[in-house]
Amino acid sequence: MSENKTILSLMQPSGDASLGNYLGALKNWQKLAKEYNCIYAIADLHTLTVRQEPAEKRRRSREILALFLAMGLNERDNIVFVQSHVAAHAELAWVLNCYTYMGELNRMTQFKDKSARHADNINAGLFTYPCLMAADILLYQADLVPVGEDQRQHLEITRDIAERFNNIYGNTFTVPEAYIGKTGARVMGLQEPERKMSKSESANANNIILLNDDLNQIANKIKRAVTDSDNVVKAGPEKPGITNLLNIYCAVSGKTIEEAEMEFAGVGYGAFKGAVAEAVCEELRPVKDEYERVLKDKGYIESVIKDGAEKASRIAYRTLSKVYKKVGLLPRG
Ligand code: TYM
Repeated sequence: MSENKTILSLMQPSGDASLGNYLGALKNWQKLAKEYNCIYAIADLHTLTVRQEPAEKRRRSREILALFLAMGLNERDNIVFVQSHVAAHAELAWVLNCYTYMGELNRMTQFKDKSARHADNINAGLFTYPCLMAADILLYQADLVPVGEDQRQHLEITRDIAERFNNIYGNTFTVPEAYIGKTGARVMGLQEPERKMSKSESANANNIILLNDDLNQIANKIKRAVTDSDNVVKAGPEKPGITNLLNIYCAVSGKTIEEAEMEFAGVGYGAFKGAVAEAVCEELRPVKDEYERVLKDKGYIESVIKDGAEKASRIAYRTLSKVYKKVGLLPRG
């Protein structure tokens, strides 16, 4: 991979950040940030597709930004910003709406899932959400987008939209690729291991590990995770609870599933869960300490937000004016 690659990803402040967000996305962002210049942002416009308490949303936006900073995704080596502060996202999203077909959007599994869950509010934003996400990515000519498995389909539609636009108007957008880790890309609920661990659906507090939980709570939630009763630590479709815990353990320890199965051969579920809890707590302890420290530094967070918006706008508007010109909008003069 060339040093000049652009890496970009966003996270919604739709709920407090979860272990799924951490293992599926943030841990890979951190890895890539060591080698590349990266662009990371809070996807606050996306959260408008589902009704939420405005004050809560503002709190979470700051907290998730503080989490980025605590993980070393700082403003010196990366661009860190808030999506709504760069109006080009909404502007390009409108253009891309006009280059995306209803049939394509209809196939999005996230749209189907969310409209089933929020049947009283199936708004147009929920439907055209992938166009805004495509705008986020294409504005910055991103080469690589580190995400969890649940975003794969959105990356595919982004590629289709970019290719379609390039075919009509000549090379305008870099066609991005998804970067999805081998383990941790799909962390499941601890109480419902058939379903994704989701920060916006934390009705059962024991189902989800939040980075805001204290370490005791985290360890207890892992120890209470639903499993089967045959007491054999082995991954498989008939053992979703144990498979999920193995997946979490491997994402944290860097081991493969086979190595972990060998490590815990002949060990009962109690001891296995204890080992997973310890590994997760050791992983999160330094992140949480640094997060608490950064969160108190309100002036620093505000300065990152301001600076990030300026840096991101410069890049975004370069792409947007190219697009406006190609589609035949009059220049401002
Ligand atoms: P969001 O905010 O739901 O999640 C942020 C990131 O966390 C990953 N993730 C998970 N990974 C593993 N296991 C889980 N249980 C889990 N839950 C969430 C997600 O895959 C994501 O990488 N639409 C995006 C936000 C977005 C975006 C973008 C991402 C907006 N514009 C442009 C990339 C590029 C979303 O809702 O992620």
